[in-house]
Amino acid sequence: MKILDKKIAVVTGSGRGIGKGHCVNLAKMGAAVVVNDIDLNQAQAVATQIQDEGGRASVCDANIAAREGAEQLIDHCRETYGRIDILVNNAGNLRDRSFLKMTDDEFDAVWQVHVKGTFWCSQIAAIAMREQGDGGAIVNTTSGAHFGSFGQTNYSAAKGAIASMTYTWALELARYGIRVNAIGPTGTTRMSDTYRDADGNEIQLPFIDPELNGPLVAWLCSDRAKTVSGQVFGCGGSRIAHMKQPRYGKTLVKDDGWECESIDQHLLSQLRGEFGALGMLGEPYPFHDGVLPTGS
Ligand SMILES: NC(=O)c1ccc[n+]([C@@H]2O[C@H](COP(=O)([O-])OP(=O)(O)OC[C@H]3O[C@@H](n4cnc5c(N)ncnc54)[C@H](O)[C@@H]3O)[C@@H](O)[C@H]2O)c1
Repeated sequence: MKILDKKIAVVTGSGRGIGKGHCVNLAKMGAAVVVNDIDLNQAQAVATQIQDEGGRASVCDANIAAREGAEQLIDHCRETYGRIDILVNNAGNLRDRSFLKMTDDEFDAVWQVHVKGTFWCSQIAAIAMREQGDGGAIVNTTSGAHFGSFGQTNYSAAKGAIASMTYTWALELARYGIRVNAIGPTGTTRMSDTYRDADGNEIQLPFIDPELNGPLVAWLCSDRAKTVSGQVFGCGGSRIAHMKQPRYGKTLVKDDGWECESIDQHLLSQLRGEFGALGMLGEPYPFHDGVLPTGS
């Protein structure tokens, strides 16, 4: 089964971890792949592995955290292979710190790679796809962290922005035959090794092969997924979960509008049962007894 025969793909930040798995699986399905990473040696090793296995791969060490780097990457792809059909925005970094201590530099460093990098690479790639005239596929990388994640203001905001950009681009780019989806992957990687709990202690997680996210990405990029756009999937290990888009839930209506008195009378009695899990860990709503100071 070579569902990506003749397709040309770019995967950002793919010298290791989850992105490496995307490259290997895209190549296995027949795509030629540009392996991008600021770490050139890592990218070269992935490309060599693909070539050794009979696939086509090229390397580009552009830094996608700047528009020039994103341009360099997409130009490299078109100069090497003549076109671009697939873009997987995967590059990522972390600068975890609790909200009250987070600096501007920590916020910007994460925003620049995840949000601006995804924005720049996608815009430049989508313009190229529009010129080519026969569609394309973009897969973005979000995370369950965008539901809320202790110590990750920058990262959760970035991943929420990426989910929102996915919905918007699916709407805007459909007229050019370009589909846009996202995954919230899982895998044991250099990034996951840095995860800490609220007290700063290392979190012991079972090993999950990061390359197991790759087959879903390859399938989403293929014509087999021609009816799939604007969707987000949580994946990794043995799991593929449809991640629900935020939408309005139970709604209260008062024809002449709401005053504080009527809100006070109805809001909690009608809606408190709707306050579901808060945060990526899916724990039950913790504030039914009030939000009270418990210390520093
Ligand atoms: N590991 C997980 O469980 C997990 C969970 C949810 C989401 N994700 C997301 O999956 C993606 C991959 O994460 P990973 O765990 O494989 O991380 P990783 O740190 O192993 O790999 C990320 C790669 O991106 C590269 N990179 C960083 N900045 C770059 C830039 N400006 N230009 C080009 N390359 C750059 C790094 O050099 C690195 O090789 C990220 O977007 C991450 O947020 C990972």
